Amino acid sequence: MESNSKYKCIVVTGGAGFIGTNFIRYLFEKIHYPGVIVNVDKLTYAGNPENLADIEAKFGGKRYFFEKIDICDFNACEKLFTTYNIDCVVHFAAESHVDRSIHGPKDFIYTNIIGTFNLLECCRSAWENDYASRRFHHISTDEVYGSLGETGYFYETTPYDPRSPYSASKASSDHLVMAYYHTYGLNVTISNCSNNYGPYQFPEKLIPLMILNMKSEKPLPVYGDGKNVRDWLYVEDHCLGVWLVVNEGKAGETYNIGGENEWHNIDLVQKLCEIVAEKTGKSRDYYKKLITFVKDRPGHDRRYAINCDKIKNELNFRQTVEFSQGLEKTVDWYLNNKEWIERVKSGEYRKWIERNYEKR
Ligand code: NAD
Ligand code: TYD
Repeated sequence: MESNSKYKCIVVTGGAGFIGTNFIRYLFEKIHYPGVIVNVDKLTYAGNPENLADIEAKFGGKRYFFEKIDICDFNACEKLFTTYNIDCVVHFAAESHVDRSIHGPKDFIYTNIIGTFNLLECCRSAWENDYASRRFHHISTDEVYGSLGETGYFYETTPYDPRSPYSASKASSDHLVMAYYHTYGLNVTISNCSNNYGPYQFPEKLIPLMILNMKSEKPLPVYGDGKNVRDWLYVEDHCLGVWLVVNEGKAGETYNIGGENEWHNIDLVQKLCEIVAEKTGKSRDYYKKLITFVKDRPGHDRRYAINCDKIKNELNFRQTVEFSQGLEKTVDWYLNNKEWIERVKSGEYRKWIERNYEKR
């Protein structure tokens, strides 16, 4: 597959995180994007530049640049726009974990709201002579729409009703992005996606946490009654959807991206137990005994389900990875990438960051 994007220099914020890493890989490896990518990342606990070490070795200094920048630092963001001839920003950087937002919302407010505001301000001033040929694409979540009952779906027109500090901060940034379209005419698009899964996801989120706990025979903590529903999408299909919106989405529009793949948490955890058992040569039910129901997350949204007809009808989006296949690939990745897992679990990757970035 070849890329025919009109954008020549794309800033990907949060490119050292889960989806950003997969997005940069998607551009270089899958669609052979011929332009320049600048990965802008603060390297919080969730950012791991080792994820892209091979990309750095192959394209670094030529078509791939890494900038360790906190998007809350306005001057650093502004400098970025004078260093590179940026014509597109794909904004993934965020604090992304709901449980962390409950225990400490401050970073979510700063990064997700102020950080987004800083980037918008930089684009507003750097691109003011020609907004039409530049694009700011904002990555958001279905969590801004709140919680569904047993039936119904989130549409692009569903009123926002965020419930956690995380989703409230994302909703806030979405509103800012749209305000820059209506007020200044900045060429923006937003995509609101359902739960992603796949390689390089930090093992605090449901799927990698469960796989790693199974490997170490630790309890598998399921919140509440396990009947909460999430709609799962393989991360590469999210990247595909984002790329379609970046290049073909209409300015000022929001596009929902989803897996059309709803699972009760408990059913998903049981399915994972079966896949891991098969791969590790255990009996089918071996890991299920580790499932432990624990105290529910406060304000735990009951059900998310995305209607993504708009991106399917208007931009011809189709999911390409069937769920069983995606889960198998994900389990294989977490079982096979022992070194990545050890370095993340032991915190060794943080020392690598200190040696390579912080002492410069
Ligand atoms: P992640 O937590 O894995 O990665 C976030 C990245 O942002 C990290 O590399 C981190 O270092 C960086 N970052 C954090 N604060 C920063 C700052 N102040 N300045 C610069 N960089 C900073 O998150 P993810 O799961 O890859 O999510 C990426 C985006 O997608 C987020 O905007 C999230 O809201 C959205 N999203 C995620 C999901 C999902 O299932 N993971 C679903 C829908 C939408
Ligand atoms: P998570 O991966 O944190 O994503 P989000 O909260 O953004 O949907 O959680 C997915 C679902 O799994 C959510 O309903 C909470 C639940 N969950 C557990 O039951 N146990 C866990 O240890 C975690 C991390 C999540």
